[in-house]
Parts: sequence; structure tokens; C-alpha cells
Amino acid sequence: MLHTPVLLEESIDFLITNTSGKYIDATFGRGGHSRKILESISKDGNLLALDKDLEAIKYAKENFKNSNFSIKHSGFEDLDLINIPKKVDGILFDFGLCSTHYDNPSRGFSFKEAGPLDMRIDLRQPNKLVDLFETIDARSLANIIFQYGEEKESRKISKEILNSFKNGEINNTVDLAEIIKKTKTQRPKRIHPATKTFQALRIFLNDEINNLKIGLEKSKDLIKTGGRIVCISFHSLEDRAVKKLFAPKKISYPKEVPLNNEVIREFRVVAKKIKPKSSELEINKRSRSAIMRVFEKI
Ligand SMILES: C[S@@+](CC[C@H](N)C(=O)[O-])C[C@H]1O[C@@H](n2cnc3c(N)ncnc32)[C@H](O)[C@@H]1O
Repeated sequence: MLHTPVLLEESIDFLITNTSGKYIDATFGRGGHSRKILESISKDGNLLALDKDLEAIKYAKENFKNSNFSIKHSGFEDLDLINIPKKVDGILFDFGLCSTHYDNPSRGFSFKEAGPLDMRIDLRQPNKLVDLFETIDARSLANIIFQYGEEKESRKISKEILNSFKNGEINNTVDLAEIIKKTKTQRPKRIHPATKTFQALRIFLNDEINNLKIGLEKSKDLIKTGGRIVCISFHSLEDRAVKKLFAPKKISYPKEVPLNNEVIREFRVVAKKIKPKSSELEINKRSRSAIMRVFEKI
């Protein structure tokens, strides 16, 4: 399999509330979840999928011929620009990257095989990782590595990356990973020493957390009452943002205003912090950091 879908059974069980309903898979990837949705809905049901990566679009066009399926090359942050005639019954977000991104060194996400300093999910985006290294200062780079990678040695790593880059020593992703590995004094047990820095650079470059927030906010307007939004996150930054976006909104009035504070609930929590079962963890290592939350429009 090109990409093993995570929490497949659980996510689709929560998502489908009406077999003839309309659904959106906001992150098609290689269509693991889309295929399951199509198997679970009737011919009257409909699925629209999105992905920012042209390779995913090409794969869908070649492999998904169902008449009730369509795909658009778009970021979910632009959900409102897509022509969706009616409100939908469910939207699935399976954030992050596919295994195919890491397996193809030419995309620049892999620290195991040398690839260009790229890391763009959407190749229409102008700025690659190399452009970031050419323009950023050490302090800002350290902030990115700390904020999006929660990497404690961010300052040291940032300085070393920029010095080595200026000296012409970082020409590909393996050079970059080696510099990070040499710089770090703390050696993580289960992951490569460059994992957190690579994660941070990718999240920043693709503006992933902002896009997640915009996409989820827009999806709130598209979903019908009783419809569900299913979110699968892969690190705490994503999960925290998801949880916060669906938290009840508190409106407090100043003391002199004779009104009680209000709590506005637009969504009910259907499931929180669902993690893969041990049987899934055994066959798919990537699933170990997955966390799913499900919200239903009230
Ligand atoms: C974890 S994969 C999805 C895997 C998919 N559920 C499957 O089973 O094959 C995430 C996908 O989201 C895409 N993606 C990332 N950011 C996106 C965005 N802002 N809008 C749309 N797609 C995005 C990536 O290109 C990737 O294909």
C-alpha cells in the first residue's frame, strides 16, 4: 500500500450519519479514507475530495472512477471558494503528510535519502526550504524550530544550520539532517535527532497550523445540523488547535452590564482523544502519534 490510512474504521464509523449524504474528504492523500467513505455511502450519496498536492490529484483521477466522486486541487483553507451546492453531512481532516511524501526524496521531506531543500506540499507555492535558509536570521529560525518542533536545542541548531548553509555545506536533506545530528547533545531514543527540526520547518513552510485553523473555521459553516467533522491530528500543536477551535465560546460582559455571561455551543463533542488500537500500532508505526476528535453540529 502507498499510504496506510490511520484510524480507518473508527473515523468512517463516526463520519457517516446518512448513507445518501454529501461528504468531503479534505485531505485525499492516496484515498484510503475516501475509498472507505465510498464503500459506506449509497449511489445517492456523494464525496468531494481535496488535496493540495498534485500527485494526490493525479492518483485520484487514475484510480477513482466512481460517478459519485470528484476531486479538486485545493487547500482546505480555501473550502469556501469551492462550489459546494448544499450543506454537507460530514467532513474528514487527516492532517499532515502521506507516507508517499517521505518515500519520494525529490520532495525534500526525507532525512534518510538525499533530496532537494524543498518541503513544499503544494508545488505552486513559490518558497522552498532553500529560500527560507537564504533569507531568515538565526533568531527567527530558532523560534520556528522551537515553536513548531518543540525542539529544546533550537538556538544551537538554528545557528549551526545557517552557518553551514552559508559555507555551502548543506545542499540536500541528508546534509541538513547530519548537521542537526552533530549539533544536538540530547539524543532522542525512538526518533532520528532531526525529526523535530524537520517537522518544524515543514509546518512553518506550508503554514500548516494557520491553514488548519482557517479550514476548520470554514468547515463549521458548511456542515449541516447533525453533521460531523472528524479530525485526525499527528502532533500536539495540531490537536491543541483542533480542541480550541471547537471549544464552547464564552461571552463575558463587564460588571456594569446587567447580563449573565453566556456560553455558546455550536458543536457537541462526539469523541475525544481516540487513539489507534494496539493491533493498528503493530502494523502501522506512523499511527502511533494519531489522535482523533469528532464534533457534531448542534
Ligand atoms: C495524512 S495524508 C491523508 C491520507 C489519506 N487520508 C489516505 O488515507 O490516503 C494528508 C494529505 O493532506 C494533504 N494536505 C496537506 N495540507 C493540506 C491542505 N492545506 N489542504 C488540502 N490538503 C492538504 C497532503 O498533501 C496529504 O496528501
